[in-house]
Amino acid sequence: MKVVGFVGSPRKGGNTDVLVQQVLDGAVEAGADVEKFYINEMDFKGCQGCNYCRAVDACKLDDDMQKAYDALKKADGFVFGSPIYFFQFTGQMRQFIDRCWALVNPDFTPRIDGGKKAVVVGAQGNPEQGAFQSVFDEFSQILQMFGMDVKGTFVDVGHHAPGEVKENAELMGQAKTAGSQLFD
Ligand SMILES: Cc1cc2nc3c(=O)[nH]c(=O)nc-3n(C[C@H](O)[C@H](O)[C@H](O)COP(=O)(O)O)c2cc1C
Repeated sequence: MKVVGFVGSPRKGGNTDVLVQQVLDGAVEAGADVEKFYINEMDFKGCQGCNYCRAVDACKLDDDMQKAYDALKKADGFVFGSPIYFFQFTGQMRQFIDRCWALVNPDFTPRIDGGKKAVVVGAQGNPEQGAFQSVFDEFSQILQMFGMDVKGTFVDVGHHAPGEVKENAELMGQAKTAGSQLFD
């Protein structure tokens, strides 16, 4: 089994990255191969709305999203993570999502196999757990549109400094367990 993580925070070692890594570490414990993409380090543009991918099963832009498309088609499980920036996922993650238009057919069926497993993680400064519930729910709906089975959402709240999430032992444990049980 292969599990791929996508980090939507620009901060390596930040709270989102730590949670993504916890899920990947859990997946490794369960015997999976893992790979992590830092979206901020990938060289790609936002969707140009050119509609090339409406006629052809491919994106016209030859950039680092091609590696992500390959991973999304081939891997069995995923962990997607983003902090909240101004009530939404980061611009980096939004740009990544838009480019996944090339993985959707004109009839809105996915161009990737159904039944892949996914975990969503996030981080927010706001200490109120449900403050951005709709953002996480909408992201899960996008994953479900791709036929993914979303196994759980784990959000670090009330922290700003990178890596502060490690103080939340319960959440760290939950994220790791989500990784180790991704295919159960
Ligand atoms: C540009 C920017 C906008 C932010 N907007 C929000 C926000 O709207 N709501 C919130 O609760 N936290 C907000 N935050 C705080 C981050 O979500 C928080 O610091 C989070 O832990 C960062 O995650 P990271 O360590 O993975 O980068 C914002 C941070 C930045 C840098």
